Amino acid sequence: MTNSNGKVLRSEAWFGPRDLEGFLHRSGLKNQGWDEDSFAGKPVIGIANSWSEATHCNAHLRVIAEHVKRGVIAAGGFPLEFPTISLGEFFLTPTSMLYRNLMAMDVEEMIRGLPIDGVVLLSNCDKTTPAMLMGAASADLPAIIVTGGPQLKGNWRGEELGSCTDCRRYWSELRAGTITQAEYDSMEEAIYRSPGHCMVMGTASTMSVICEALGMTPPGGAAIPGADSRRRVFAERAGATAVDLVRRNTRPSELLTEEAFENAALSLLALGGSTNAIIHLTAIAGRAGIDLPLAKWEELSDRVPVIANLKPSGKYLMEDFFYAGGAPAFFKKILHLLNQDCVNVNGKTLAQNVGDAECHNDDVILDPGHALYPDGGISILKGTLAPDGAVIKRSAASSDLLQHTGRAVVFSSPADLHRRIDDPDLDVTENDILVMQDAGPIGGPGMPEAGFMPLPRKILEQGVRDMVRISDARMSGTAFGTVVLHVAPESAIGGPLALVRDGDMISLDADGGRLDLLVDDDELRRRRADLESSEAVTHMQPERGYMHVYNRHVMQAQHGCDFDFAVGRTPVATHVEMEGH
Ligand code: FES
Repeated sequence: MTNSNGKVLRSEAWFGPRDLEGFLHRSGLKNQGWDEDSFAGKPVIGIANSWSEATHCNAHLRVIAEHVKRGVIAAGGFPLEFPTISLGEFFLTPTSMLYRNLMAMDVEEMIRGLPIDGVVLLSNCDKTTPAMLMGAASADLPAIIVTGGPQLKGNWRGEELGSCTDCRRYWSELRAGTITQAEYDSMEEAIYRSPGHCMVMGTASTMSVICEALGMTPPGGAAIPGADSRRRVFAERAGATAVDLVRRNTRPSELLTEEAFENAALSLLALGGSTNAIIHLTAIAGRAGIDLPLAKWEELSDRVPVIANLKPSGKYLMEDFFYAGGAPAFFKKILHLLNQDCVNVNGKTLAQNVGDAECHNDDVILDPGHALYPDGGISILKGTLAPDGAVIKRSAASSDLLQHTGRAVVFSSPADLHRRIDDPDLDVTENDILVMQDAGPIGGPGMPEAGFMPLPRKILEQGVRDMVRISDARMSGTAFGTVVLHVAPESAIGGPLALVRDGDMISLDADGGRLDLLVDDDELRRRRADLESSEAVTHMQPERGYMHVYNRHVMQAQHGCDFDFAVGRTPVATHVEMEGH
């Protein structure tokens, strides 16, 4: 395939030359049973597969890959599947977020190094989607992302359950003594009963819709359940679209514009989506050379109603969202807020793609006039406790706690919290504020999802189910409660969070966007001097391996926790000059 400048697709540099190099490259495919006619002169479409048995949400991606291949071949391309590392929420320790940037580097360098002209990215679990988008944005070779879809609704004794919102809810009930251990155990196989990612509007669901809002996945793909045959049909169509994308030579940089990121941010807010996605979207934008500061989120948040009536903010699950019309129906209801001219990988604009979309259930995808939350499902907070920002998901919080001043009960780390939270002698009341330190990007390390702190057992036993909680950690998108997250700068690098002590008064004003530590400056200066002279601030600086890179280069939450050296893109040449062509 020659372009208007007489250059050929980059894969030709591997498979075209009749010399030793070309001999070896062609042999590597013939060795796998391919006839030269199957690949010679055709667009080679990489299929970057994050399949893994250690990532249960991605465990069906081998099947999805086969369907992508069908589409690639039918459209005249040649598929070349390769593995990436895979990040599963359940098994990886200490936290999958620690490795998101590693996976992004893996994806970027494989795109750069392999003989491919375009790539279909297969992702699903929370971190796999942003990592793949980050890598693809930096490599800037034509790319499409295909997620594996949500799980079907859980069903436990006739009750519909969503992971992991309901696992958390019933865990609190177990700890409060209102259900038995045997009942809780029986929920395990009832809730996780089909392939796919968590089926509430958690991080994976949010990121899937964001893929569609960014134009990086064909329309309608975000919400098809993993077990639904339409997910496989979608994958086949996406394979064909990838071939077309290469023929059109459309790179991510043409799709990932400032307007597309604004659409993604607006969608996240209207979904009542995961706070984690703010970090991921900021990092993806950074790779695309676009600044997405917290100020932008503040500006957008006030004008966006939450219209997705999905757990943990609302009552339905992703399967219901799909049956109601999925992302196209959702976009159509907020089209007046979106940049309608943004282009999708299928070559059409957002307005064209959602033109015929219909909503089949207005109780699942609400009209903006009947929003679940009229403005700002997520608020950005600033103040003396968070000079560089913090985040609260208002739509999943208790409205009576959004303005709250209380006494701090401080835990020095997640480990300290787990040691003492159920101590009967813990000095805590329901009006206090639980504060946890040392769980940020450096402190965690990896900014674990520890921000959804369990309530003390003795508070649960009083029938209380929510308290204000503050930390520099993240929270699972499936969790809920009045939880302030991503406090920056984090405590491990000396942010004000490190200076909070038991009994300090803290003021949360979610409406006013404030988070303040009500301690006078002299006292804070004294505490800072004590802290700086103590060993406690010295975090381990590993001398080798991935952690050596991570600790020195990870940025704070407001910058998306990407590595400072990885921001931006270095585009791969899509076409090369070849003699004889
Ligand atoms: Fe993978 Fe929830 S565990 S999306």
